Order: sequence, then C-alpha cells, then structure tokens
Amino acid sequence: MRIHKFLAECGVASRRASEKMVRDGRVFVNGSASVIGQDIDETNDIITVDGKIITNTNKKLYIMLYKPTEVVSTSVDDRGRKTVIDLIKHDISQRIFCVGRLDYNTEGLILLTNDGDFANIVTHPKNKISKTYLARVKGGLLTKEDIKILRNGVMLEDGKTAPAKVYVEDVYNDNTSLVKITICEGRNRQVRRMFDAVNHPVINLKRIEVGGVSLGNLPYGKWRHLTQSEIHKILNN
Ligand code: URA
Repeated sequence: MRIHKFLAECGVASRRASEKMVRDGRVFVNGSASVIGQDIDETNDIITVDGKIITNTNKKLYIMLYKPTEVVSTSVDDRGRKTVIDLIKHDISQRIFCVGRLDYNTEGLILLTNDGDFANIVTHPKNKISKTYLARVKGGLLTKEDIKILRNGVMLEDGKTAPAKVYVEDVYNDNTSLVKITICEGRNRQVRRMFDAVNHPVINLKRIEVGGVSLGNLPYGKWRHLTQSEIHKILNN
C-alpha cells in the first residue's frame, strides 16, 4: 500500500495532506525518511509521523480463539468473571467483539472481529452457517432412534430444531459417549438442550468448526488471525 493511502486509512489526514506530510519530511518508514509514492508493508513496517508510531485502528480484524471453559464470551462481565477479551487485550488494542456466543462451560472455537457486517452475516439465522461440536454425553449407547431424532429435529420449547449431522465417534467404559454434531442454527444452549431431550445430558462440549473452518491444533486459550481464505470460506459456507 502507498504511504499516503496508509496514513489516510489510519485517520492521520486526507491523502493529499498526508502526501504533504511526506514531502515535509515528517514521515519515516523503519527509521528512514519516507518518499512520495513509497510502497509500505502495513503489517511489518514501522511508520512514524512526527516521531509517533501510526497504527491502523480502522483495519478489519478477524480472529479465532480457543475459548477455555470458565470464560465468558462477552466483552465485559457484570459478575467479574474472565472474558474472552481478557485473553486477547494484551496483543490487540482495537475494540473487537465475539461473533455469537459459547456457554461459560463450553470450550472451543470462537470468532472475534471489529467488522459488524461480517458478524451479522455469520450470526444471521437465514445464512445457516454450520457449527460443529464434539459432545461428551452421558450414556454408553445412543439408540438408533435417539440419533434419528437428533438428526431430523428435536422438539424444544422454542420449536423443532433443523436437521443436524450426528455421528457417534466413540463409546467409553464409563458409560459415556463422544458424539460429533453439526448444526446450522445458533439457539441458546442448543446442543445441550438437544441432548437433554434424548436423555443423554452433555458432560463436556467443545466447538471444533465454524463455517467449515476448524480449530485445528490451536492451543487451549490461544488465538490467531484468520487467513483470507478462511474468511472467504466462512462467508461462502
Ligand atoms: N450449544 C450449547 O448448548 N452450548 C454452546 O455453548 C454452544 C452450542
């Protein structure tokens, strides 16, 4: 990106006024005086104006976080509990917010952004963005009937759930099972309520995928920026 465009995007001045700042010798790139039309790398170069580092607070951010349990997926919590923003704020100074919610006791992939349009697209029910969870549930064996009900739709107090993908991944000796479930809705506590309805309450819940983008091997409690292709994948899901 050209230096004057970068300065304008950062809100320093208009493009024309930014060019004048460059011409007046007020702008430096990595310690060297900038020149008109100079191309800069906005992620790696250090740009200063009158000695002050300029960062692009308007830049759109798209982040995935491995939310741990016992963390709330809101920006502030009136009960003083740890929030997802607490896990990121040392590295990101821009105001960002969660795209959707995960329960306090649910772990896994949560998206954060400062792009309201992106958040609206991902959370709007009409767009049916897929979300995949691994649920450890009580009960050693889900019957074919249970699986059929979960797949075809469970009658909950707020209506029948839309068709879901459901696979039993494992059955353990302690009379619990691991079930992979993909839903395209985002109702409150939906997965827990679906399993409650078939008498297999959830013990642990982890979200592993949103819009075809997976958590992969991102460590517990850590975050990273989404790649361009991941952003497109989610928007085209
Ligand atoms: N469904 C739930 O029950 N809890 C979550 O956190 C997400 C989906």
